[in-house]
Amino acid sequence: MGRFQLGPGRSLQVNISQEEIINVFHSIFYASEQDHSGPPKLYNGVPIHKHPGDMFNYQQILFEQKPDYIIECGAFQGGSTMFFADTLNLIGKGKIVSVDICERAERWYPQVEAHERTILIPGSSVAADIVAKVKETVKDGKSFFVILDSLHTKAHVLAEMGSYGPLLAKGNYMIVEDSNLNGHPLPPEWHTQTMQEGGPFEAVQEYMQKHHDFVVDLQMEHRFLFSYAPSGYLVKI
Ligand SMILES: C[S@@+](CC[C@H](N)C(=O)[O-])C[C@H]1O[C@@H](n2cnc3c(N)ncnc32)[C@H](O)[C@@H]1O
Repeated sequence: MGRFQLGPGRSLQVNISQEEIINVFHSIFYASEQDHSGPPKLYNGVPIHKHPGDMFNYQQILFEQKPDYIIECGAFQGGSTMFFADTLNLIGKGKIVSVDICERAERWYPQVEAHERTILIPGSSVAADIVAKVKETVKDGKSFFVILDSLHTKAHVLAEMGSYGPLLAKGNYMIVEDSNLNGHPLPPEWHTQTMQEGGPFEAVQEYMQKHHDFVVDLQMEHRFLFSYAPSGYLVKI
């Protein structure tokens, strides 16, 4: 509220707080990103559904940690899978294991399947046989980056966290995306199922009550003012 100093010689007079501005902009930005009427957002030719600031954070974490495996739950057409696989190529190490139930007509784009660093597993990220398959695939790994972006209900996200969280080594990240749903800050009515059942944010709250070996990295989350994963950058300590 009041006058914001934005740099030398630059200030802005507004009648809402900085937090409110960021939250309103977050909602507008998210709605525009979800608007499929405009040109698609592509990464290396494949549709992607991420906040560019989060993507920047992810590449920084990956370059710092150089994990043996990325485990991704929820790929859709594979834009994010492609982004992670290309980042691993730049690092020169690691594979991404990506799981998607593939119920929709759109499947992984051919270039995602053909990428030398991708291992794609069709199926539900919480089904016992799929969890076992992922664990078998990454069994030689010592460090991981887990990113959860599949079904956004509390129960589902908690099950994913319970399945893949124990793999993480000290310092590794588990990212819980779309914790912005259900009032954090996106209006709850924008996602009916999450509003009714609780979503990723509520899953993180419950998980953190029982798992004191994780902390939330708020500094990383806030570097671009807002993130699609509020309180969702979890670090194993
Ligand atoms: C938001 S999209 C993923 C977007 C992608 N990560 C990106 O950034 O471009 C969510 C995906 O989760 C998948 N999904 C839904 N339920 C799932 C489940 N039980 N297991 C695995 N994937 C699931 C859907 O098929 C959909 O492709």
